[in-house]
Amino acid sequence: MKILEAQQLQKSYRYQGNVLQAVRNVSLTIHAGEVLAFLGPNGAGKTTTIKMIAGLILPDAGWVKIMDRDPHRDPKALRSLGAVLEGNRNLYWRLTPEENLEYFGVLRGLSRRLAHQRGRQLLERFELMDKRKTVVQMLSRGMQQKVAIAVALVHDPHLLLLDEPTLGLDVEATENVKTLIREIAVEGRAILLTTHQLNVAEELSDWVAIIQKGDIVVKEPTPELIRQFSGSAYTLELDVALDPERASKIEAIGGVIDGQIVIVKEAGLLYRVFQILEPLPLVRMARDQANLTEIFLNLVRADHAP
Ligand SMILES: Nc1ncnc2c1ncn2[C@@H]1O[C@H](COP(=O)(O)OP(=O)(O)O)[C@@H](O)[C@H]1O
Ligand SMILES: [Mg+2]
Repeated sequence: MKILEAQQLQKSYRYQGNVLQAVRNVSLTIHAGEVLAFLGPNGAGKTTTIKMIAGLILPDAGWVKIMDRDPHRDPKALRSLGAVLEGNRNLYWRLTPEENLEYFGVLRGLSRRLAHQRGRQLLERFELMDKRKTVVQMLSRGMQQKVAIAVALVHDPHLLLLDEPTLGLDVEATENVKTLIREIAVEGRAILLTTHQLNVAEELSDWVAIIQKGDIVVKEPTPELIRQFSGSAYTLELDVALDPERASKIEAIGGVIDGQIVIVKEAGLLYRVFQILEPLPLVRMARDQANLTEIFLNLVRADHAP
């Protein structure tokens, strides 16, 4: 089921007499249960795009549909949307987690009773019950972030927008938030996530969209993107160092030997290498894997501007 569709969004800002085209052409679709990592260097237009999707700033051109409703025309669209924007602004710092959940639940159309009930469920699930009566200001950054995500979920939205959800969190809190995001997607929600922690994107996302200078330059399923950028070399690991006779045969066809490790430069040579190695047991075989950090840096360093 298609939860979010954004088509050809554009936005320019006027600033000190200049016009800055922050978003030139962004189209995104997210289905139920999918996490889309929206990546790009600083100033690329991620937050502006998210704010247009959230109905907070009006696009100059293009449109947004959340569950078939346009958030700029139909306020009911906002019932399907939860957002955690940069810097946790969806929380009242002087209220407790419990009060925030109730307040925002009611604001988004729940009865007070239902808001309280949903709030309780989320506090339990996010392991915040013992902090429910502590003002948000006093909580750790990681807990504040969990409260912010809980608040964004209180009205049970289909779409969750998370702008830098792990920014400023320590390793443990980051793991915590990652687990929550994965669980939230498994429930069938669609998640749009920006992050500078590319390992977070790699582990969580089904899709990657990369934006640069306001244009989407890449939009691929995450495993596909990693596959495309992965090398063609294979590493084979034996459980003993290779004997000199086999080693020289493998070197003769271009393989590289390093003790128990055999590196084969391309898949086409694998079968010949297997023949030479037979019947020695293989402990491991792996293809050279690219990771999202390398891919991102390569793409962003190459100039994609028209
Ligand atoms: N309110 C604003 N007024 C003027 N320029 C803005 C405003 N908000 C963002 N910009 C500019 O628009 C561009 C995109 O910003 P933003 O969407 O925040 O990018 P990102 O989230 O990818 O870092 C940047 O050049 C930024 O300086
Ligand atoms: Mg931003």
